[in-house]
Amino acid sequence: MTVIKTVAVTGASGAVGTAVVNAIVESGKFNVSVLARTGSKAAFPSSVKIAYVDYSDVASLTEAFRGNDAVISTVGLMGLQGQTTAVEAAVAAGVKRFLPSEFGYDLEDPKIEAITANLPIFGAKVNVKKLIEEKAASNPDFTYTYVYNGTFLDWGLEHSFLFDLQSGKPRIFDGGDRPFSTTTLKSTAQAVVGVLEHPDETKNRAVYIQDLVLTQNKIFALAKKVAPEKTKSWEPVPTSTTSIKGSSDAALAKGDDSLPVLFEYLYVLFFGEGYDAEYKELDNELLGIAGDKSDADIEAILAPILN
Ligand SMILES: NC(=O)c1ccc[n+]([C@@H]2O[C@H](COP(=O)([O-])OP(=O)(O)OC[C@H]3O[C@@H](n4cnc5c(N)ncnc54)[C@H](OP(=O)(O)O)[C@@H]3O)[C@@H](O)[C@H]2O)c1
Repeated sequence: MTVIKTVAVTGASGAVGTAVVNAIVESGKFNVSVLARTGSKAAFPSSVKIAYVDYSDVASLTEAFRGNDAVISTVGLMGLQGQTTAVEAAVAAGVKRFLPSEFGYDLEDPKIEAITANLPIFGAKVNVKKLIEEKAASNPDFTYTYVYNGTFLDWGLEHSFLFDLQSGKPRIFDGGDRPFSTTTLKSTAQAVVGVLEHPDETKNRAVYIQDLVLTQNKIFALAKKVAPEKTKSWEPVPTSTTSIKGSSDAALAKGDDSLPVLFEYLYVLFFGEGYDAEYKELDNELLGIAGDKSDADIEAILAPILN
């Protein structure tokens, strides 16, 4: 039976990392340390040990990981490719469980993997996943778990990703009725704690969680309820995910790999037909996710954004 007691979190100053570190600290079950890039100005809870590292230096990362049972990577987009060094270092340091910076759409879906693999920046998630699986195959003591939570519910609304709450012209993808799994940052962080508590049941596989299943039209209806005056003048823009994929493919082919072009693919993967954004088999119960968020919870997220 595997037991995890000591945990290192990389990229811990981001939205996901902060939620993960807080949840691990609150669980009271693990010794947690964080790794930050040399020069990072991030602040962490006083109980947390901080090591400053250079993510390109395998030897120093190995030293920083040594003594940890698990490494959780929560690095942001620009740190994704550098995770290959972190995987090498984790294996060298004898880390038992590695959670790469996933926390989004389901890369186990071959269609999603194929699109992601061809994208600059995001393609690193596929490279890192392949490396992890190769390392796990040749080092049985090194294991992994991928956490798939769909889109973030709170972050996705606050950043107008799930639904544009800012411009008055929200894009409604493919009619707006396609269901997708969505999870708050807090529940996602709880799932990470659940993985650390259940290393055997979560060994070498993906875990799937959700707080609830939503549609864009449901979000629109709740936004209208929360802010009837403000939303009265909104003019929804019907948008086809097939056509945004076509224009993004064309932009990429011309060499435009800017973030706005890359982000368009996220709408295809989260809202497009055939990409299984609603998870059918969930690990909620194993990982301690109630999965019972209601309209009232969504309204509570929408209210401060809209009013
Ligand atoms: N499902 C969703 O809706 C959704 C939404 C957002 C993000 N995500 C996913 O969640 C994960 C974390 O995203 P996030 O938004 O929390 O990340 P973030 O805030 O962009 O970055 C997290 C941390 O990564 C570190 N970092 C930045 N650049 C780096 C680099 N070049 N090399 C190494 N580390 C670097 C920084 O920490 P230090 O300065 O302390 O080193 C930063 O605070 C990603 O995998 C992302 O794809 C999913």
